[in-house]
Amino acid sequence: MPHPAPLRFLRHALFAASAVSALSAAPVRTAEVTEGPFYPFNSTNTLPTIPAANRDTDLTRLAGAKEAGKGELVLLSGVVRDVAGSPIAAAKVEIWHTDAGGVYYHSGDRNVEKRDPAFQYYGEMVTGADGRYAFRTIKPGLYTGRIRHYHFKVKVGGATVLTSQFTFDDERATFASDGVQRSLKGDALESTVIAPQRGTDASGAAAWIAVKDIVVDPAARSGADRAKKK
Ligand SMILES: [Fe+2]
Repeated sequence: MPHPAPLRFLRHALFAASAVSALSAAPVRTAEVTEGPFYPFNSTNTLPTIPAANRDTDLTRLAGAKEAGKGELVLLSGVVRDVAGSPIAAAKVEIWHTDAGGVYYHSGDRNVEKRDPAFQYYGEMVTGADGRYAFRTIKPGLYTGRIRHYHFKVKVGGATVLTSQFTFDDERATFASDGVQRSLKGDALESTVIAPQRGTDASGAAAWIAVKDIVVDPAARSGADRAKKK
């Protein structure tokens, strides 16, 4: 051991660095963001209720359909974690968003008649022990007045613990002018921004790959569920 002291120093430095990164890696809770008017299961939607067969994790394809919905393929996945960083099992993740033309599955959308008949609009899944969620969907289309976004909810034990939205890193220039996004700053803002990268799906088809953990307090109550909890 010709240089024991520097080695010891190095080990100390590495230990300190990893301790600091462990501290700074404490997950930031995903910010609560408005549900908006077009959640498909809200009381104002008069369209037919989405059947169970069309609530799966592949929003690009309706049950039994040969054609996929229009739009750029996105594989959105991550882990649902608690504020200590542990994966949450049995968390239900719901996602809903516009088709490639910027239309929602909701009777309140003034363009509802123009919706893509091949797109699923909504998906849900329940996490396993690894807390992982994954959806195959499209890049949401734009509609007047908002930046591009996915809506999502997380439910634990039947209670909604988070309602939020994911927005896109490549639209940061317009965040400040968006009526919803501009209310978020710093870590809260970053907790909702995804940065899809170019890649492929398992079959080799071009896809945007977006990976983002969702961090929730399982004891929290979101939206309408807040009023129920006392
Ligand atoms: Fe929206």
